[in-house]
Amino acid sequence: MSENEHLLAIEGQHLATQSRIKYFDIVISSGNGALLKDATGREYIDLLASASSTNTGHSHPKVVQAITEQAKRLIQYTPAYFANETAAKLTAKLTALAPISGPVKLLWGNSGSDANDAVIKLARAYTKRQYIVTFTGAYHGATYGALSASAVSLNMTRKIGPLLPGIIKVPFPDPWKKKDYETEEQFVTRMFEEFLHPFETYLPPDEVALILIEPIQGDGGIVKVPPTFLEKVYRFAKKHQILFAVDEVNQGLGRTGKWWSIEHFGLEPDLVTVGKSLASGLPLSAVLGRAEILEALDAPAHLFTTAGNPVTSAAALATLEVIEEEKLVTRSKELGQLAEAFFKQAQKTYDFIGDVRMYGLNGGIDIVDPVTKKPSQMLATQLIFAIFERGALMISLRGNILRFQPPLVITKAQLQKAFAIIEAAFNAQKQGKLTLPQNATELGW
Ligand SMILES: Cc1ncc(COP(=O)(O)O)c(C=O)c1O
Repeated sequence: MSENEHLLAIEGQHLATQSRIKYFDIVISSGNGALLKDATGREYIDLLASASSTNTGHSHPKVVQAITEQAKRLIQYTPAYFANETAAKLTAKLTALAPISGPVKLLWGNSGSDANDAVIKLARAYTKRQYIVTFTGAYHGATYGALSASAVSLNMTRKIGPLLPGIIKVPFPDPWKKKDYETEEQFVTRMFEEFLHPFETYLPPDEVALILIEPIQGDGGIVKVPPTFLEKVYRFAKKHQILFAVDEVNQGLGRTGKWWSIEHFGLEPDLVTVGKSLASGLPLSAVLGRAEILEALDAPAHLFTTAGNPVTSAAALATLEVIEEEKLVTRSKELGQLAEAFFKQAQKTYDFIGDVRMYGLNGGIDIVDPVTKKPSQMLATQLIFAIFERGALMISLRGNILRFQPPLVITKAQLQKAFAIIEAAFNAQKQGKLTLPQNATELGW
C-alpha cells in the first residue's frame, strides 16, 4: 500500500464523503510555487492552483515569512471585539484596490461563501427590498445564502430545501445557448429578453435589491458574459436603483490578466466579493463596496470570531505585495496568451476540442464527441487522468470542460512542460489509447 493509499484509508473511515469532489487518489504533502508533491514524493505541475486560491503559488517565501512573524506575535484576537494592527493596515490596502470610485468600506469573512451571504444581507438592508437576481451556472458558495444564489450542482441543493426565499435565477448567456443561426448581437438581444422576462411578468423591479453575477463564471466553465449583455443588465440595474454586485472570489486578484474580472467590462460595481487567493489560501474573504451600503447594517449584524484574523491578514498583506512586486497581473495576461495559443493550436489538430476560452492564466477547454460535437464527459475524464499520470494536476468543470488555472507564478519552463504533458495526453486520446478509470462514475461534480 502506498503512503497515499494508507492515508486515504485512514481518512476515509472518518471524513464525510460529501466534503470532497473526487478526482485522483493522492494526498498533497508539500508545494513550492507551481509544483506539488504527494505523500509518496511524486511531483506534479499544479494546473488548478488549489481552485484558484493560490495565485501567488504554494508557500511563497514572502507569505510564509509574514505568516510566521505574525504567528509569533499574535495568532488570534477576535476582530469582532478589538482591532488588530495587521487587519487595520489591510483594510486601507484592500479598499484602495477596489474597482469602485468614491468612499469604499469593507467587511471581513472567512470564505467566499459567507462574503456572498453578506452581500445579500447588505443589499436587502440598504435598498429595503427583498428580491435578489442571480444567474444559472453561477457558483457563489455553500452556505445557505450563497448556495441559494448558485445554480451549478444538483447535489448541492438536494435534500436540504427550502433554500433562501426571494432569489430569482435568470439564464446566463453562455456560448452553449447560442443558436448556430444567430449573430452575437441577436444572441445578446434574445438573452436580454429572457433576462427581462421575470421583470415584466412577476418580479417588480422596484422590489429587487440586487443583481449578483460572476462576470466570468468559474465553476460554470470559465465563461465570460458577452460585454454588451452585461452593459444592458447594468443599465437596467441603474435605471431601477438595483445594486450591482460582482463575485470576484474565483476570478479576482489577477487571475484574468486584470486585477478584477469586472475590469474587462468597464463597469463599476456597487459591491465586490473576494476570497480564495486573498490570503494565498488562508481563510479570509471580504466584501468591498460603496461605503454607504457597507454601513446599512448596525453591529453586530455580520461578524465572525476569526474573520480579519491577524495571521490571515498578514498573509493577505504579503499576498497583495507579491502580486504587485512580481507583476502577477501582467504575468497572468502574458502567460495566458501563450496558453491560449497552445490550446487554440491543439483545437486545430484534435477534433475532440470544441471550444477554447482563455482570460489570463485561466481557461476552459470544452471536450466534445468528435462526431456529434456534444459534450463528452468520458473523453474529458480520460484526458485529465492521462494528464495526471504524466505529472500534472488538472480537473474538469461541468463534466466535460478542462479547467486550466495554474498559480500565476508558474515559470515559462514549467508551463512549457505542462503543455508537453497535455499534448501527449491529447495525442494518446487521438490514437485511441486512453481508457476510463474504473471509478469514473464517482468522479467530478
Ligand atoms: C465564484 C465563487 N464564489 C464563491 C465561492 C465560494 O468560496 P468558498 O469555497 O471559499 O466559500 C467560490 C468557490 O469556488 C467561487 O468560485
